[in-house]
Amino acid sequence: MEQHKERYSNAFTATLSGILDLFRKQKNVVTINDEDKLTGKNIMITGASSGLGFEAAVQLAKRGGKAYMACRSGIPQKGELVKQLSGSSKVEMLPVDLSDMDSIVKLVNTLKAQQVKLDILVCNAAVVPLKSRKTKQGLEEMFMVNYLATYMLVRLLFENDLMNTGRGEAPRIIFVASESHRNPKDFDWEGFGKYEEFTAGKTVEYYGYYKLLLGTFANELSRRLNPAGKINCSVFALCPGPVNTNIAREAPVVFKPVLKLVFALFFRSPAVAVRPLVYFATSKEVNGKSMDYLFLLSRKEMDEKTTDEKNGQKLWQLSEELLAKHGVVFNKAMVDGAKVQA
Ligand SMILES: NC(=O)c1ccc[n+]([C@@H]2O[C@H](COP(=O)([O-])OP(=O)(O)OC[C@H]3O[C@@H](n4cnc5c(N)ncnc54)[C@H](OP(=O)(O)O)[C@@H]3O)[C@@H](O)[C@H]2O)c1
Repeated sequence: MEQHKERYSNAFTATLSGILDLFRKQKNVVTINDEDKLTGKNIMITGASSGLGFEAAVQLAKRGGKAYMACRSGIPQKGELVKQLSGSSKVEMLPVDLSDMDSIVKLVNTLKAQQVKLDILVCNAAVVPLKSRKTKQGLEEMFMVNYLATYMLVRLLFENDLMNTGRGEAPRIIFVASESHRNPKDFDWEGFGKYEEFTAGKTVEYYGYYKLLLGTFANELSRRLNPAGKINCSVFALCPGPVNTNIAREAPVVFKPVLKLVFALFFRSPAVAVRPLVYFATSKEVNGKSMDYLFLLSRKEMDEKTTDEKNGQKLWQLSEELLAKHGVVFNKAMVDGAKVQA
């Protein structure tokens, strides 16, 4: 995998870039309206046990939505904390390990059994491992958690009619991406899904690559769900900028004190960084729109590799084929009467 922009090529330059971005003047800034409520809406957030996802659960529950926290840890304590902090009892935790396909299927089956229709899906979970690890199905864990699990989850939700399409306001899917998606020079289609060993020096590079896959999927999904300009489901993506979370939890012990200090001094709190996510979940301005990208609170274009239809189609097809090899097959080709091309 080649790189062309050095800003996110390693942990040091990525951290520095993130900090410098915070001091740059932002253009095209959006505003959040505190009056925009989510009463009656069902929201599911992946990776809501920590950091940005946890804060999203608090903020969105505060606005009256029912928050489903799809998590692998912190059950039930984190849910109880969200109830306390939001003042809402409409919070439920759903166990899921996104590195395991069986667990994703179980999550979908739970939603199905409860007859939940989601109005907002926040695809937030991600891992930044110290080195490569194999998942139960033999894939690389960061590839699975940071990209393929989201593809699989979204496809299964539509497959099982669990997104609240076709009834008034279109549902929204929000991808928590990262500016580091701009870093890889190109896609590695040959190596797609193949397990490769790597160590800490390569983690940031792979992280950016999987964010490129995620962003490309977001664009392709938006095109397939909303043909001919009719919005059946809004798809949005954002980069929250550098956030003081647990994202670097696996950093080598010697760097941890420095990282902790840098994060505390320069990175934004989850309560501030979550604002673009809250905007996409709540704003009336984006009703009937799709594929909008925010960096901090500033509207931006994603890297052109993510918007190229050929890349989107290729990624869709390869993801589908890879999952099929693991027995995950999608039969449904329709969403709301709109053709979702296989
Ligand atoms: N922090 C930043 O500076 C920054 C910058 C740009 C983008 N982002 C993005 O923001 C999002 C949230 O990250 P964060 O900063 O809030 O980091 P975080 O505090 O580490 O939160 C990550 C969340 O993902 C969950 N997760 C990881 N592996 C999982 C798995 N196998 N199954 C289920 N859940 C899993 C974690 O669960 P556990 O608690 O159980 O591990 C946690 O809830 C990510 O998409 C990240 O890429 C962060």
